[in-house]
Amino acid sequence: MKYLIANWKAHKTIQEVDQWISELTRHDLSMVKNNLQLIICPPYPFIHLVKERLKKFSFCSVGAQDVSYFGSGAYTGEVTAENLAQLVDYVLIGHSERRKYFDETATILFQKTSRAIQHNIKPIFCIRDRGDMIPSHVPFVAYEPVAAVGTGNNEPLENVLSVKKRLRLDKKTCFIYGGSVNIENISKYISSAEIDGLLVGAASLQTAHFFMMARQMM
Ligand code: PGA
Repeated sequence: MKYLIANWKAHKTIQEVDQWISELTRHDLSMVKNNLQLIICPPYPFIHLVKERLKKFSFCSVGAQDVSYFGSGAYTGEVTAENLAQLVDYVLIGHSERRKYFDETATILFQKTSRAIQHNIKPIFCIRDRGDMIPSHVPFVAYEPVAAVGTGNNEPLENVLSVKKRLRLDKKTCFIYGGSVNIENISKYISSAEIDGLLVGAASLQTAHFFMMARQMM
């Protein structure tokens, strides 16, 4: 199975989300084979809309971009794993932007990971480099070097593979690369059997680009 994960970050209005989905579903999606999973991670308010509109496509899933390290309770503004259970199948944890702007530490990220797992949400655990600790038994590890995220400077495949090798991940863990992946460079990464999927920010915002990337992965 290969994974194409769209991280919309804090982009899009409700109208733009609606339009993105309409454009996607206008394509002939019957060509998506069952060895590809598309995971859309919209901002929280749009999760339900994306889920409802894509529910007939078994190869589409919805993910959250974050989850609280608190459980249910008096935590105004937080979104907990309980809130997300049954709404999303996946959650990004430890994205470099969360670590940078929200001071998320390894302890917090490990707590988020266990909350997600307790509620049957699969964590896609993001690391910036080999120095970031990875909780055991996470199903997905996404390597996203900071110098490549949002900069247009995608990391050369050889470097990605050498980092993967040194991580010595469990055989069952899927290895994802993210950082300036786009329609021009995606083929390099998918040509490697060592890479199970791609996490795409900017290039996932336009339906046409997202669909073209998905097609290359089919
Ligand atoms: P980018 O973002 O594709 O815009 O570099 C990737 C990410 O932050 O997940």
